[in-house]
Amino acid sequence: MGMHNENSPSLSPESLLAAHPEWYHSIELAPGVVTPGRAPLSSWQTELRDLRLPDLRGKSVLDIGAYDGFFSFETERLGAARVVALDHYIWSADMVAYMADFRAARAVGKTIPSPHDTAHWRPDELPGKRPFDAVRRCLDSKVESVVGDFMTIDPAEIGTFDVVLFLGVLYHLENPLLSMRKVAQFVNPGGLCVVETAAMEIPGSGDRAFCEFFPGQELNDDASNWWAPNAAALCGLCRASGFSAARVLPSRKSQSPVRKATRAVKSVVAQLPLVSMPLRYRAIAHAIR
Ligand SMILES: C[S@@+](CC[C@H](N)C(=O)[O-])C[C@H]1O[C@@H](n2cnc3c(N)ncnc32)[C@H](O)[C@@H]1O
Repeated sequence: MGMHNENSPSLSPESLLAAHPEWYHSIELAPGVVTPGRAPLSSWQTELRDLRLPDLRGKSVLDIGAYDGFFSFETERLGAARVVALDHYIWSADMVAYMADFRAARAVGKTIPSPHDTAHWRPDELPGKRPFDAVRRCLDSKVESVVGDFMTIDPAEIGTFDVVLFLGVLYHLENPLLSMRKVAQFVNPGGLCVVETAAMEIPGSGDRAFCEFFPGQELNDDASNWWAPNAAALCGLCRASGFSAARVLPSRKSQSPVRKATRAVKSVVAQLPLVSMPLRYRAIAHAIR
């Protein structure tokens, strides 16, 4: 683990974009100047709204798996007094070179190993952290960064937080229960953990808790995806990890007419004496410590 504070001179938003071609998050650097992330800025803003964050003014926020830092910078903008962006995996990879190889392979119907199994793995240089650092300077942000695997970080070293964001990480982890127990250690008593994750429902399974396991690349062609809980399992994971209450928020996407129709068809199919197919979606849960 390491605390990092970048003090190099600021770049103009335009030269920042020219210097950093590879982005996961779309982040507005100046009016109309947005980093070209994997989804439009409006999608990230919708995801932020869907998290239903409480009033953050004066609060402390930990963003576990911060990547380029969209949620860290946004929570700072929303008034959080202290924001810590924590990551290590993506920050350790040269994502410009890795994504070039990834796209070239995909164009011919192939896949490549995960970043840590390629020549683009450079944890001593943290090339994947450069976009985060550049945005931080450009926005004159006070967001702190911590480089490390949250599973091995002692909360005494970085503190505990009023709000912990655990977005897009749970399903990448081999041990979801152990991981949620560790996440809980970073949350102040009475504090909030927001979990966003790949999830699934098996029509007709009632309140029973299930996780779907992906031994290979079954979920989104990505070998780093291991588990998708259903809502009961997600709440159960939070409760079993020491949170006093947990609820899954109604999913905006699952309210769309197409999703509703798909669900209706699948639940009819589920009544037939056939194997019920899991319906995959993204879930957001609020867990109170
Ligand atoms: C799918 S991205 C999600 C990024 C961001 N939280 C979001 O929701 O847009 C997963 C991120 O989690 C990070 N990550 C995965 N395992 C981690 C761990 N054990 N400790 C810290 N970060 C981790 C990865 O490096 C990556 O940046």
